[in-house]
Amino acid sequence: MANTGKVKVGIIGSQFEADIHAASFQMLPGEAEVVAVASPTPGNAQKLADRYGIPRVFLDYRDMLKEPDIELVTITAPNSLHAQMTIDAANSGKHVLCEKPLCITLDEADEMIDTCKRKGVLLLYAEELFFTPKYRKAKEMADQGAFGRVYLIKQSEKHFGPHSPWFWNVELSGGGALMDLGCHGIAFCYWFLGRPRIKSVYCQMGTYVHGDKTKGEDDCLCIVEFENNAVGLIENSWARRGGMDDRIEVFGEGGVTYANLHMGNALPTYSEYGFGYAVEKAPTTQGWSYPVFDELWNYGFPQEMSHFARCVRGKETPQATGGDGRVVLEVIYAAYASAGQGRKIAMPWKPEGLRTPIEGWLGKLGA
Ligand SMILES: NC(=O)c1ccc[n+]([C@@H]2O[C@H](COP(=O)([O-])OP(=O)(O)OC[C@H]3O[C@@H](n4cnc5c(N)ncnc54)[C@H](O)[C@@H]3O)[C@@H](O)[C@H]2O)c1
Repeated sequence: MANTGKVKVGIIGSQFEADIHAASFQMLPGEAEVVAVASPTPGNAQKLADRYGIPRVFLDYRDMLKEPDIELVTITAPNSLHAQMTIDAANSGKHVLCEKPLCITLDEADEMIDTCKRKGVLLLYAEELFFTPKYRKAKEMADQGAFGRVYLIKQSEKHFGPHSPWFWNVELSGGGALMDLGCHGIAFCYWFLGRPRIKSVYCQMGTYVHGDKTKGEDDCLCIVEFENNAVGLIENSWARRGGMDDRIEVFGEGGVTYANLHMGNALPTYSEYGFGYAVEKAPTTQGWSYPVFDELWNYGFPQEMSHFARCVRGKETPQATGGDGRVVLEVIYAAYASAGQGRKIAMPWKPEGLRTPIEGWLGKLGA
C-alpha cells in the first residue's frame, strides 16, 4: 500500500453524510482523494460518484474493501452497521473513519477498538464539533484562562427530526435524539474540559411530538458531572421547529462566552418568493429565514477530514478516536437508564442486562 502522496479514500454510504464527506475531502484536497464509493441501492453510489468525480463505484462495500490501494474507509451508513463495517474494513487492513455515534452497544465498541488495534489500523471517530472553528475558538480562550475555572458548559443541537426513515427505528439507530444528537454534546463537553473522569449522569427525556413515528425520545436534557467540579448540560431535540439549531455556552468563575453556530454565520433574510437553500433541515425559504454560508467549513467537516488524512500519514495524532466514541456511549447508556429510573447514575456504571442503551429507558431496567 502506498504510504506517500494523497491518502486514497473509499466511502461507505451515498446519501446525507456521504455527500458531506465527499464534498469536504474536495474542499481541502491536499491530503486525500476519494477514489471509491459503495452503497447497496442501485444507482445511488453512481450519483454521488458523478457529483464528485469519484472513479470507482460498488454495490457491496466488501468488494470495495478488496481494492488494494484504498487506505482509509469512511463509514456513513446507519448506526447499526458501524461495528460490522469497521471490523470488516480493519480486517482488510484499512484505516477506519467512523461516523457518530460510534456504534450501538459497548460490546460492539470494544470489538471495533480491539480489532483495529490488533490489525494496526486507526479507528478515527468523526466528531466534527472538535473541529468547528467557532467552538475551537471558545476552547482556545478557555485554555488560555479567559474564563478562569470553567464550571458549566452547555451544548445543544436541535431540529424537527431526521431526514431518513432508519433514524426513527431504534433497532437501527439505537435511540432517539440523545443517541443521534446528544452524542455530539457529550463528546463536546468531555473534550472541552480536557477529558476528565465522569462522575455522574442524570437525564430527563420524553416523546412529545413524534410518538406516531418512533419509540425513541424526541427531546432530552442530560446533565453530566465531571471530576474537576464542572458540569455539562446537553440539550437535544427532534421536536424543535425551524431548521437546525446548534449552540454552546461556557461559564467560568472569571468569564463567559456564547456561540451560536448558525445564527452568527447567517444572513437574517426575508423573501416573499423563497430561494434555494437556507440551512440544514429548514422547512422553507419563504418569509423570514437565516441562510448560512460556508456551512461545511463552519461545522469543521473539511478540517476534520484533512486532519484524519494527515493522521493516516502519521503527520498528526488523532484528535478523536474510537476511545472517545466509547466514552460517549457509556454516558448514553447511563443517561437512558437515568431517565428510565428517575435517578442520577454514578459513574462508572455497568449496564448489566441491557443490550442497547435505549432499553434502559424503554423499560428493561426498572422504569
Ligand atoms: N457528523 C454528523 O453531523 C452527522 C450528520 C448526519 C449523519 N451522521 C451519521 O452518518 C451516518 C449515516 O447517516 P446519513 O444521514 O448519511 O443517513 P442516510 O440515510 O442519508 O444514508 C445512509 C446510507 O447508508 C447506506 N447503507 C445502508 N445499508 C448499507 C450497507 N449494507 N452497505 C453500505 N451502505 C449502506 C444507504 O444506502 C445510504 O447511502 C449515521 O451514523 C449518522 O448518525 C453524522
